[in-house]
Amino acid sequence: MAVSEESSRVRVAVLASGSGTNLQALIDRFHTAESEVEVVCVLSNRPDAGALRRAEANGIRGVCLPGSSPEEQDAALDELLGACGADLVVLAGYLRLVPPSIVREYRGRIVNIHPALLPAFGGAGMYGRHVQEAVLQRGARVTGATAHFVDAEYDQGPIILQWPVPVLDGDTPESLAARVLAVEHRLLPEAVEAVATGRVTLQPDRTCRWNGPRAQLNTFILSMES
Ligand code: GRF
Repeated sequence: MAVSEESSRVRVAVLASGSGTNLQALIDRFHTAESEVEVVCVLSNRPDAGALRRAEANGIRGVCLPGSSPEEQDAALDELLGACGADLVVLAGYLRLVPPSIVREYRGRIVNIHPALLPAFGGAGMYGRHVQEAVLQRGARVTGATAHFVDAEYDQGPIILQWPVPVLDGDTPESLAARVLAVEHRLLPEAVEAVATGRVTLQPDRTCRWNGPRAQLNTFILSMES
């Protein structure tokens, strides 16, 4: 991935509305001396988002999007992404639709984490607790997490990585969400690094192409199994 001139690292902007544990997983993975990737700003639509506190605690610029209407906040989002020189945008529990102009501008450079195995349990209304409630109601025996490129349709962008999580007897939305979240924390940094380093690219026909040796991907898959 071509990086901005300000730094030789790939600059990542994270958009988050919640507690920010996925953000933390990215920080823990990338904030090392040898990392090729760096989280440079955290943007949120909620002033009380734990993600903003985590940004501050880690010396990362954190901004609550100003403006009282969704349109004002979208305009601010566009401006802030430009101002922080973001090469890559990561949606880590961002509970708002990203405007189509930004999705277009960052095509192939915008990644989302979803707490189910897409295309199951995705789309409008499938966020937060609603996802795990729907999984349990439907009687699914397997769910999981999906990291995917974002494109114009909600939760329908090309899949980068997925990992399954069994649904256990007696699971509640909370117990299931906790097991899925632990998988998200491993999947998201791996997917972001793969995009940032060009190991996976989005093709014009909306497929993902893995470049170079598959060995690294296989190593990751085997590490998930252990
Ligand atoms: C995660 O389950 C993510 O998949 C979903 O929102 C949750 C965010 O959790 N979109 P956190 O804020 O990263 O802790």
